[in-house]
Amino acid sequence: MRDLPKIIIGLAIFVIIVAIPLWYNLAGGGAGAMPELVVETEDVPGRDECVLPAGRMRPEHMDLLNRWRDEYVRYGDRDFTDHRGRTFEKSLTKTCLDCHANKDTFCDRCHNYMAVDPYCWDCHVVPEELAGRGGRR
Ligand code: HEC
Ligand code: HEC
Ligand code: HEC
Repeated sequence: MRDLPKIIIGLAIFVIIVAIPLWYNLAGGGAGAMPELVVETEDVPGRDECVLPAGRMRPEHMDLLNRWRDEYVRYGDRDFTDHRGRTFEKSLTKTCLDCHANKDTFCDRCHNYMAVDPYCWDCHVVPEELAGRGGRR
């Protein structure tokens, strides 16, 4: 057990290094702090949960959207039934932006923070921009 002091020092250094980002966040609230995301439908019955169970959307929404697009465009398969038995149309604007109509304080806020810039909006029109054609729907 002659190595024990070395091991302890090694562990201490490891813990300090791992904790640095945490201290950085606590200290500044600065560069590392995730901006607040607004979910407008959080308290609306039946719309209080996303199309995948909580915790899965954050890592999986890009793949889900790609799948929706392929199924919709290639096979004309338009219905998605979720874990609660709710049925949604496989649509970026009609479904995602129906509940998340505040794209700016939700999708964009996180994407900007993560430096992600989905090219989808080159073609897909954000409903808010459809003034006179049903507004946010
Ligand atoms: C070059 C133009 C273009 C780009 C870029 C694009 N799409 Fe589409 N997308 C379309 C067209 C055209 C359709 C077919 C629309 C229809 O049939 O109503 C479509 C349909 C879809 C659909 C199913 C229908 C619907 O209402 O949403 C999904 C989901 C979709 N795209 C997701 C995406 C995603 C996610 C991205 C970005 C990663 C993306 N698209 C980028 C043109 C584009
Ligand atoms: C029926 C309403 C509804 C629809 C439709 C919906 N969402 Fe959600 N979404 C929510 C609610 C409510 C939450 C927060 C609670 C939860 O996690 O379920 C959420 C959470 C999320 C999160 C996780 C946010 C975080 O902080 O981790 C992402 C990402 C997301 N949604 C993206 C999408 C995308 C992309 C679509 C379309 C494929 C979509 N949502 C469709 C209601 C919806
Ligand atoms: C909690 C953070 C967060 C929220 C909220 C969020 N996204 Fe994302 N999104 C990401 C991250 C991170 C990536 C990049 C993932 C990667 O590159 O693997 C991403 C990627 C995407 C992509 C794929 C882009 C590409 O070029 O392939 C699409 C499409 C997308 N998001 C749509 C949405 C939509 C629509 C919403 C709102 C309804 C939304 N996201 C909300 C974090 C988020």
